[in-house]
Amino acid sequence: MTEASILFFRTCLALLAMPIYILSFLGIWEPFCKKIFFPFFLEKLSTIHNRKTKKQKQELFRNLPDFAGPSGELKLLEIGTGCGANFQFYPPGCRVTCTDINPNFQQGLSRSMSQNQHIHYERFLVAAGEDLHQVPSGSVDAVVCTLVLCSVQSVNGTLKEVMRVLKPGGVFYFLEHVADDHSSWRYFWQQVCYPTWKLVFDGCCLTREIWKNLEQANFSELKLQHISVPLPGTPIKPHIIGYAVK
Ligand SMILES: C[S@@+](CC[C@H](N)C(=O)[O-])C[C@H]1O[C@@H](n2cnc3c(N)ncnc32)[C@H](O)[C@@H]1O
Ligand SMILES: *[C@@H]1O[C@H](CO)[C@@H](O)[C@H](O)[C@H]1NC(C)=O
Ligand SMILES: *[C@@H]1O[C@H](CO)[C@@H](O)[C@H](O)[C@H]1NC(C)=O
Repeated sequence: MTEASILFFRTCLALLAMPIYILSFLGIWEPFCKKIFFPFFLEKLSTIHNRKTKKQKQELFRNLPDFAGPSGELKLLEIGTGCGANFQFYPPGCRVTCTDINPNFQQGLSRSMSQNQHIHYERFLVAAGEDLHQVPSGSVDAVVCTLVLCSVQSVNGTLKEVMRVLKPGGVFYFLEHVADDHSSWRYFWQQVCYPTWKLVFDGCCLTREIWKNLEQANFSELKLQHISVPLPGTPIKPHIIGYAVK
């Protein structure tokens, strides 16, 4: 019964979004999305999301300086940097390596960099979280991922790379939207929206239970909290936030 209604509403949504499915079939949507639509959309989303999570992010990154190396230098790697929504939360002097699979965020990224000159930008790598071979093993003090694990091809593969590049005792910070409780209405809508949402928003998956991957990833310590971010009318309210130590 539920299966059938999910299928029914999925079809309705797909009909509404038919022009996008046609553009996708013609091979036009994906390049347009990556180059123009998503960079434009992400700058707006980052601003709104940051406003709603500012307190939590400040609290989350408060202990970041504790993970600096013996020289006092803090080497941080960000996966899926996008427009640089997290720069404002990093401590002064922090040495940041930005990575993203999509190189088309220059505009938002330079805006964010010029507003956050308290940190040092080491380099920008076009790389997938699942393959960070340009980054040596055991070379960074902290890795940050916000709203990225919903979109990667492989959550496990990305966490494996996080583990590899971190120094022993290094820290991984995350803030991700996740699947809602299976008995909730929102979970029903997450399942309904899933295919169209994924197509429109550059591969974003609504129903991942990312806390499970984190629990099984062999970190020595995991601090994880389920929170609700007030984004009314969207299927991305439920989030997980926290950090894990290698
Ligand atoms: C919703 S945005 C979040 C951006 C930023 N972290 C933030 O919090 O505003 C998702 C980002 O993940 C990137 N991304 C998607 N798949 C990826 C992958 N496999 N490896 C690295 N980055 C990826 C996208 O290009 C995009 O910049
Ligand atoms: C991810 O890794 C965990 C633990 O190793 C495993 O149980 C799970 O099935 C993996 N998920 C996928 C999608 O491969
Ligand atoms: C975690 O460690 C166990 C036992 O050492 C190992 O079997 C498993 O593959 C590891 N999981 C991951 C995701 O690396």
